[in-house]
Amino acid sequence: MKKTVAIDGPAGAGKSTIAKLVAEKLGYIYIDTGAMYRAAAWKVLDAGVEPTDENIVDVTKKCDVRLRFVGDAVRVFADDTDVTESIRTPEVTALVSKVAQLGPVRAKMVELQRSMAKDGGVVMDGRDIASNVLPNADVKIFLTASIEERALRRWKEMKAKGYEEPMEKLAAEIAARDKADSEREISPLVRVPEATLLDTTGMTIDEVVQKVMALCG
Ligand code: DC
Repeated sequence: MKKTVAIDGPAGAGKSTIAKLVAEKLGYIYIDTGAMYRAAAWKVLDAGVEPTDENIVDVTKKCDVRLRFVGDAVRVFADDTDVTESIRTPEVTALVSKVAQLGPVRAKMVELQRSMAKDGGVVMDGRDIASNVLPNADVKIFLTASIEERALRRWKEMKAKGYEEPMEKLAAEIAARDKADSEREISPLVRVPEATLLDTTGMTIDEVVQKVMALCG
């Protein structure tokens, strides 16, 4: 039987790297829910409107956010624009927590996410997957790491994309995003009691993948 695997955790914990590799090994589809909120934030910036709650909701409601297969790879689309790379800029990252706090935005994304997971065979990562999107997921994992390690990982990731940002700035941004994601009213980042806690500080990607694969049994 094809399972549903939910991986939640804070920014920079390695969720997308691990979820993608595990999905590949299992022959499942990887669904990056953060990318969907990022696509909405990108659309707001692209529309050039002031990012008030009202404008964000208005732009998001009209935007067709979609994850589509192009060849073997999943690409992120906002309407007809492929935004897979452009949703990773510091500008989008700075706006996305605000976008993800809004009830109507979340309602739209959660509906899309549930429909993508309805037949199983998915590994979905985010903040509220086990607690809200897929409360009946077969496997629930909460992935985390120390803030220093998460800042270092983000720094390497950004550097590879050509952005040189001071480590302290990245650590401060991650801490701010942790706070915003954990303290928001609607579907905050929480570890549900039944989720397995995996602290990946000091672990290699291979080691984490092996642990997750064992949990997927
Ligand atoms: O994982 P990420 O950094 O790409 O996520 C981008 C933002 O979206 C992050 O600030 C939290 C939010 N998010 C969310 O609220 N719920 C999800 N299921 C996934 C991401």
